[in-house]
Amino acid sequence: MDRGGIPIGDEALRGRSTRYNSADRLSPEYRDAIDATVALLETYRRRAAPLDIGVRADDRMAEGLGAMIDALWHDWRALWSEASECLAEITHSTDRLAAAKRYTEAGLTRELLDAPLWRQAYAKPRGYPGDFVVMNYIYDGRPAGEDAFAQLAHALGVRIGQFVVRRKDFVRREIETLVAAAEPRAALRVASLGCGPAREIAEVLARDIRFAGSLTFVLIDQDEEALRCAGRGIANTATKRCAEAQVVVEPRKVSVLRLLRDVDPTDVFGRPNLIYSAGLFDYFNDRTCRILTRRLYAALPPGGALLLGNMKAGTDMSWPLEFIADWSLIYRSAERVLSWAEGLDGADIQLRTEATGYDYMLRLRKPA
Ligand SMILES: C[S@@+](CC[C@H](N)C(=O)[O-])C[C@H]1O[C@@H](n2cnc3c(N)ncnc32)[C@H](O)[C@@H]1O
Repeated sequence: MDRGGIPIGDEALRGRSTRYNSADRLSPEYRDAIDATVALLETYRRRAAPLDIGVRADDRMAEGLGAMIDALWHDWRALWSEASECLAEITHSTDRLAAAKRYTEAGLTRELLDAPLWRQAYAKPRGYPGDFVVMNYIYDGRPAGEDAFAQLAHALGVRIGQFVVRRKDFVRREIETLVAAAEPRAALRVASLGCGPAREIAEVLARDIRFAGSLTFVLIDQDEEALRCAGRGIANTATKRCAEAQVVVEPRKVSVLRLLRDVDPTDVFGRPNLIYSAGLFDYFNDRTCRILTRRLYAALPPGGALLLGNMKAGTDMSWPLEFIADWSLIYRSAERVLSWAEGLDGADIQLRTEATGYDYMLRLRKPA
């Protein structure tokens, strides 16, 4: 099935992941952790290989691959902690961090590139990391990959990405709460910035909601394919369920950065009761986050809420994302996230984390 990925030449990709200069200032303990992780994957490659013979791709999970992923996950977690501890000790040295990244990509990343999830994240065929294809792999959680080891490595990536699923659940509950609290015939507006596949919206509509008003979802993304994917997902569920509510989807292909100065947010999405963004502010600098927060908050009607996600600083998530998948994000402390809301007089401010604890969710509510 075409999932929107663009094939990237194998040689180019593997070439990119082999640039390592032995004169680099590499932490010996970190090198050891990476070598051990590569050896672990090689062991599992050998264990998985018999499943390539005579077992259909769809049957491999039931035929032993499922148990194998549990065992791999256990060993991987230990090495993940080790590598993260090594990295924590060298955060002061950009040289050493750069050397660690090069060594990781040269040894470990290339082991994982046959897995669709790792490949899509690392190759960035749509020009940026964390595209809707990656999101869909994580949300679907279905086996993918040409051989048993590729499926195993893909499943590993899906497990690491569970914070994305929990974040989506957090946002979904927020929309459900809004709908549950609304007058039966209210006209609700919800805007998602950097909507990707907008899975949370499809899930809201897939449930039995007792709401006979109108629900307008304004979807904002720079990637037209992401908007198409989101529209399809919502249309599929909305036609099956949610018979009473009138559902409208308004896709907007625009960069959120345009809302910083030349475009008034209300011109793009009106005055939504809920504006949210999950998995986007982590790419922006503090100034951008502050200005956007202010402008988005100003676009809320009285009683409206703004919900903004950002990866938490000080967790172990940068090893798989930044070092293995070359997926750069800005990890922030609670103080840094809260600083976006400085000067927003009267706002009710709450900082939560989604269930895995990797992501902050900042909620700002305007007084009614
Ligand atoms: C990590 S995904 C998150 C998608 C979705 N919110 C989710 O949690 O499933 C980030 C999304 O933001 C979009 N994006 C990235 N930069 C953007 C920008 N400057 N303006 C609008 N959309 C952007 C990408 O196309 C992608 O769909």
